Amino acid sequence: MTVSLPIRIGLIGAGGIADHHLAGYAAIPDRVRVTAVADANPEALKRRTEETGATGYTDFLELVKDPEVDAVDICLPHHLHRSAIIAAAEAGKHILCEKPLCLTAEEATDVREAVQKAGVTLMCAHNQLFMPAVAKAKEILDSGALGTVYEVRTTDSFFNDFDPENMGWRAHAATSGGGEYIDTGYHPTYLLMHLSGGIPTQAFAMMSTHRLKFMEGEDSAQVLVRFDNGSVGQLVTSWAYEAAPGTDRFSAVGEKGSLSSDGSTLRVKIRGEEEQVFESEPIDTFAAEIADFVTCLETGRRPLNTEVEGIAVLGIILAAYQSTRSGKVEHIPAM
Ligand SMILES: NC(=O)c1ccc[n+]([C@@H]2O[C@H](COP(=O)([O-])OP(=O)(O)OC[C@H]3O[C@@H](n4cnc5c(N)ncnc54)[C@H](O)[C@@H]3O)[C@@H](O)[C@H]2O)c1
Repeated sequence: MTVSLPIRIGLIGAGGIADHHLAGYAAIPDRVRVTAVADANPEALKRRTEETGATGYTDFLELVKDPEVDAVDICLPHHLHRSAIIAAAEAGKHILCEKPLCLTAEEATDVREAVQKAGVTLMCAHNQLFMPAVAKAKEILDSGALGTVYEVRTTDSFFNDFDPENMGWRAHAATSGGGEYIDTGYHPTYLLMHLSGGIPTQAFAMMSTHRLKFMEGEDSAQVLVRFDNGSVGQLVTSWAYEAAPGTDRFSAVGEKGSLSSDGSTLRVKIRGEEEQVFESEPIDTFAAEIADFVTCLETGRRPLNTEVEGIAVLGIILAAYQSTRSGKVEHIPAM
């Protein structure tokens, strides 16, 4: 199914991340327009409708019925993703959904059924896949230059200055789905899976609360994942501390060599050959993701990650949380 340009977007949730999404739409005004905005907070709604000239809704269930909307962009707190996806799919709207796709196995089943029954396109907003160093690494891995991949690693840690006053829905498991791991830790999880190229089968995790003690969930996580292609992944993620200087953002080791990156410089070392270095300037990954979403709708091309990958990432996350409780390696069921 293709959509003619300009694609008309209904933005659902007009808080912090919406700034980045709106900048992405504003960068390609001939191809896309924001025609509707929904936010339960009247002040946020007023600011965004004034900024965009879009029709405002306090209830996203009303926005999805707007005939001037082809696709919705869901930027809501995590516990609301499922209901917004289902409402949009049932109204025949295509969907760009911020991470995480949803929070439980039951929600994942509901999301998959609604999207597939409606035949709409859902793209997971996995913006870090649009980093040039990630795209180049994936091209090299897919070319077979490193041979069979044995090991992948990702790190995404920073010193977060959240306090109980400014943390909002992220401090509570009922609205966030957990703690740091299902939030920022979601990024190194989809990146790990993307670089591995396999389907996750087992997870083992240790999670901690080192510093942000007022959170219900963890502020740090270390997770091991086994994939069906034989590769094993390891990730570290934290809001409590920054990674040590020199820590790779991601790396992969295969039978013929390895690659590693700090997020901009990509180093590739094939055994017996000179190291190759690929430099890239940082780009606005949100703008790149939005431009790609528009292209997918225009051409009918499959997004890089749909609900299929979103559900697989959730499978890793749920198994990791279960492993933290059980102290054991957990099987990742097909969801
Ligand atoms: N990709 C990234 O790097 C990245 C970074 C930050 C946030 N995010 C994701 O973006 C999403 C939103 O995060 P945020 O930081 O913008 O949160 P936020 O709290 O700043 O914004 C959420 C907005 O949703 C609105 N809202 C809450 N309940 C609503 C309801 N029932 N109906 C309509 N509107 C409602 C709030 O009023 C608020 O304006 C989350 O999924 C988060 O994980 C992604």
